[in-house]
Amino acid sequence: MTDVSADGPLVLGIETSCDETGVGIVRGQTLLVDAVASSVEEHARFGGVVPEVASRAHLEAMVPTIERAAETAGIHLHDVDAIAVTSGPGLVGALLVGVAAAKALAIGLGKPLYGVNHLAAHVAVDQLEHGPLPEPCLALLVSGGHSSLLRVEDVTVGVDLLGATIDDAAGEAFDKVARLLGLPFPGGPHIDRIARDGDAAYVDFPRGLTSRRDLERHRFDFSFSGLKTAVARWVEARERAGEPVPVADVAAAFQEAVCDVLTRKAVDAAVTHGIDDILIGGGVAANSRLRAMAETRAAERGIRVRVPRPGLCTDNGAMVAALGAELVSRGRAPSALDLAAYSSQPVTVVVA
Ligand code: KG4
Ligand code: ZN
Repeated sequence: MTDVSADGPLVLGIETSCDETGVGIVRGQTLLVDAVASSVEEHARFGGVVPEVASRAHLEAMVPTIERAAETAGIHLHDVDAIAVTSGPGLVGALLVGVAAAKALAIGLGKPLYGVNHLAAHVAVDQLEHGPLPEPCLALLVSGGHSSLLRVEDVTVGVDLLGATIDDAAGEAFDKVARLLGLPFPGGPHIDRIARDGDAAYVDFPRGLTSRRDLERHRFDFSFSGLKTAVARWVEARERAGEPVPVADVAAAFQEAVCDVLTRKAVDAAVTHGIDDILIGGGVAANSRLRAMAETRAAERGIRVRVPRPGLCTDNGAMVAALGAELVSRGRAPSALDLAAYSSQPVTVVVA
């Protein structure tokens, strides 16, 4: 087993599952540095992440981002106790760049390698801000690539998937609706901002998978594709009639529908499973309405809500390092050096 200092293991984490090249360094549950290089601007004109463009950007950013992270943290790479990397799920070409870099570091430095699950890392990151995770906790992960409800007993062992989106991810819906309202990519932050001046009750958009029949089969699942289509039809009808589209009102009403379903199902899942703590992570966790609504609805049921600060909610290397440090602290076995990028890695596999 790795011999680590009393303050916990020093772990370097690498994240390349989508468009952020993240390199984070933590000591136990203390964040030392979170260096992120994003290629988001290169994807903006396509209205979504282009995998080939993301992979190439990771390749260019990897070494400078690792050097910047080590320098900012004031450490030598030889000092680290372990290297952690997102092995999946994510874009395979993008993941490969991170996995190859992590293997090279692990072999070159003679340190253990942990290929970790991206979703479990989104959960573990909150330890850097709010201390040890309550066990169990209920995690609502909402981003451009995933929307899931998880029951987390021990994040280093495995995670139970209670429900997930059956079509679009929540962030994807924000991005698509923003696009049809003429807002830039990624659209979530723009909708969040514009919606503050809008009337959330202006249109009563559909709440996916909340009818009694849907709840029988999909109680903790989500669907946002029907909502996105409903917004598109509503906007088209206005335009056909030659009337102006009230962008702030539509943004607010759309956002209300998403947040309503997410918070309703998260609280229902926590109550059903007897869990007192809800953790929200992923890029959409930065949404101000989602945070406020979750706080109110959870408090009504005596449930606490933890949300990491926005910079730790979006994809980053610190979350991977945080999970890596927890794995080392709990003496979990590292990955083999023939670790592969695992684009569809299930949440039940924390270490590949
Ligand atoms: O976790 P993340 O950085 O990357 C993925 O794994 O997808 O999440 C990015 C997503 C985008 O869809 C973006 O529009 C959304 O998070 N997002 C937001 C907000 N900030 C980012 N959605 C709603 N409100 C926000 N404030
Ligand atoms: Zn993510």
